[in-house]
Amino acid sequence: MIIRKAKPEDKIPVLAFLQNTFRWGDYIDRVWDSWLAKKTLLTVEENGAPIGIGNFRLSKHQIWIEGLRINPKFRRKGYASALVLKMESLAKRKHRKISRMLIASGNSKSLKMAKSLGYTLEDKWWLYNLMPKKLDTTVHTATKLEQFENLIGSDLYSKSWEWLPLDKSELLQLVKKGCIVVAMQNKKPAGIGIWNESDIDRGVLQLGYLNGTKSGMGVILRYMQNKGFALKSKRIQVLTQKILGGPDLDRRMLFCLMKKELGAYH
Ligand SMILES: CC(C)(COP(=O)(O)OP(=O)(O)OC[C@H]1O[C@@H](n2cnc3c(N)ncnc32)[C@H](O)[C@@H]1OP(=O)(O)O)[C@@H](O)C(=O)NCCC(=O)NCCS
Repeated sequence: MIIRKAKPEDKIPVLAFLQNTFRWGDYIDRVWDSWLAKKTLLTVEENGAPIGIGNFRLSKHQIWIEGLRINPKFRRKGYASALVLKMESLAKRKHRKISRMLIASGNSKSLKMAKSLGYTLEDKWWLYNLMPKKLDTTVHTATKLEQFENLIGSDLYSKSWEWLPLDKSELLQLVKKGCIVVAMQNKKPAGIGIWNESDIDRGVLQLGYLNGTKSGMGVILRYMQNKGFALKSKRIQVLTQKILGGPDLDRRMLFCLMKKELGAYH
């Protein structure tokens, strides 16, 4: 077995075994070129042929592991585990302390693999789809941390399917980019949302963090629907730990956010 960076010529043979990964298909064809260009896509090679892949994203403190795929003919032979361990050692060399990955709650084989490698469940997140709609709402784009600090009730938020720590410096960056919106009720912050445009699906807006009172969160959701309408988005993906309800919300899937503390690199 060789684990190496993916090459352009791997695309056709790899996509050939990714036709029916999940019930709904797969998304790797939509991210392949961007992962390849970033040089973060790894391939497992056996007898000269690519039989598996995995991508990583390195941020300040963590490595994010995603897109693990092994050709069905080569499963249960330790290839995915070897890929994960390779990415972890790369992260340790670069002094990252944490590894995270997201696994659908129904993907028992992948959850079993993650647990066998020392990952534990950190949190569960729901994916909802929300349809764009013309609606009247008023929210404030946050300009200062003090405007919403008391509404941050989680250590993490999601951005283009990567979960990142919501520390002070991240929040300041998000404020700078104008991605944090606050719903005010009775002159008090009642809802907060952090949004982005999906890197994976063009024309999809994402709300990667939502918190507040029921009505405060409702205002944020209506704001997103209206924004989606104005931008002619296909849909809005809402990722949240909250159980939400409403006629325009379609609850799609539950995900397990898995975490592992990485030891020091020797
Ligand atoms: C999940 C996946 C990447 C695992 O790849 P793999 O190379 O077969 O995994 P490994 O051989 O390293 O398995 C490691 C451990 O995971 C668990 N595991 C993996 N596949 C399993 C299965 N089908 N049933 C039960 N346990 C399984 C076992 O504990 C296994 O150890 P063991 O074989 O010694 O019992 C592969 O099945 C795959 O490509 N699935 C489709 C895509 C997917 O779900 N990707 C993950 C998205 S987060």
